[in-house]
Amino acid sequence: MTMSIDQLSGTNKRAAEILLANDRGGYTVPSAKLYPFQWNWDSALVALGFSVFDPDRAWQEVESLLSAQWDNGMVPHIIFWKEEKSYFPGPEQWGTKNIADTPPTSGITQPPVAATVIEHLLAEDINAHRDRAAKLLPKLDRWHQWFLDARDPEGRGVVANMHPWESGRDNLPDWDRPLSFIDTTGVGTYHRRDTDIVNKDERPKKDDYDHYMSLVKFGRDCNWDPQVIARDCPFWVAEPGMNAILRRAERDLITMARLLGHDDIATRATARLARLDAGFEALWSEAVGGYVTLDLRRNEHATALTSGSWLALFAGKVEKIRANKMAATLSRWLSSVKHGVPSFDPNHELFDSIRYWRGPVWAMINWMISTGLIEHGETELAERIRADTQALIDQSDYREYFCPVTGRGGGGTDFSWTASMSLYWSARPRGAGTPTDATIPMPNTLKPDTPKPDTTDQEAK
Ligand code: GLC
Repeated sequence: MTMSIDQLSGTNKRAAEILLANDRGGYTVPSAKLYPFQWNWDSALVALGFSVFDPDRAWQEVESLLSAQWDNGMVPHIIFWKEEKSYFPGPEQWGTKNIADTPPTSGITQPPVAATVIEHLLAEDINAHRDRAAKLLPKLDRWHQWFLDARDPEGRGVVANMHPWESGRDNLPDWDRPLSFIDTTGVGTYHRRDTDIVNKDERPKKDDYDHYMSLVKFGRDCNWDPQVIARDCPFWVAEPGMNAILRRAERDLITMARLLGHDDIATRATARLARLDAGFEALWSEAVGGYVTLDLRRNEHATALTSGSWLALFAGKVEKIRANKMAATLSRWLSSVKHGVPSFDPNHELFDSIRYWRGPVWAMINWMISTGLIEHGETELAERIRADTQALIDQSDYREYFCPVTGRGGGGTDFSWTASMSLYWSARPRGAGTPTDATIPMPNTLKPDTPKPDTTDQEAK
């Protein structure tokens, strides 16, 4: 059920106002000063918030994102629709102008949550939205295929990130070791802009940034050629967040393709999903007791869990013995901090409660974790995470992220995806659609592949 903006009140109204203030006409910036362009997974997740009070605008958001798709299928992580000198690294550093027949973009992608969002938008009212969804399915199909072709050419069933920014979780401690092998002598001098706007204790350190810029240089020097990148890029790292989101995206694409009669897409996505489901096993570490990052160049697992580890539950069914273990570890994490879910193990020496991705809580990761927990029958934990998210927003407003220890907000202000998730979550606590309206199927009807909580199987596979 769509509400008009006048029917929203309190924090929901303010969340909608933030989205409208960050709207640049067909796309939404994550935060006016810090991130003044269209970002890939931000944009997809922002569409959920718009869907509560303006479905047409929600569809425009995903349509504008997918309109920037490259010929090879990649959907870029930033789209520079307008010139804006205050951002670094901008179009010149990415050097993609001659590659794509789109506005200038970055040269990498981000987690493909768009298919899942589009499935949610479609579930709101299938008859009203089927034509718009049908037009986007071939684009999603090509993007998902690009992931396997460009980021898993060896067919291992896990896709790599060629840059920490590709994962969307830019500054995780997981990247420290893989980055340490990279020579940064060629990066030269540059002026970062993020630390002009945000306190430097909340942002990546200079040495991290040098590594990021050397990988941008590597991509630019090879003209973002996927074959050269897969063969030679010094950073080639798989992690559970990206891979889980891609698996979920394939499932949701299959559901939509079947529903809308795109059998060819459903067949291709089913084959891809089988490969990704099997490959995900490579991310399980018995030593750590969860799904962790894997440096594919060295075949080396990370030694700690991150918030992305729980996205395995969002991806699809996790066998009961593992799901129980993961829920128990998550409960332990939550008892070590005031608000969950921290982006990195709060009991690890590298945990940093306010520095970007090395400890803080993100609302949209919480929504995905909570959705996965509900699908595995862990409703209490899921509810704790939803309540924590709202408490953080009530305490510190719509910030980019939050300190799990004190609840203090960090990074950018009036942040779009924080506003969007809070609004969507409060309007749709049980997912897309309207439970009381029999004409609109609930997500579980629309999603034949949604895992049901398993109460019988006590054995590991
Ligand atoms: C940061 C985040 C990334 C996000 C971007 C815009 O770079 O790490 O995930 O897309 O900000 O919000």
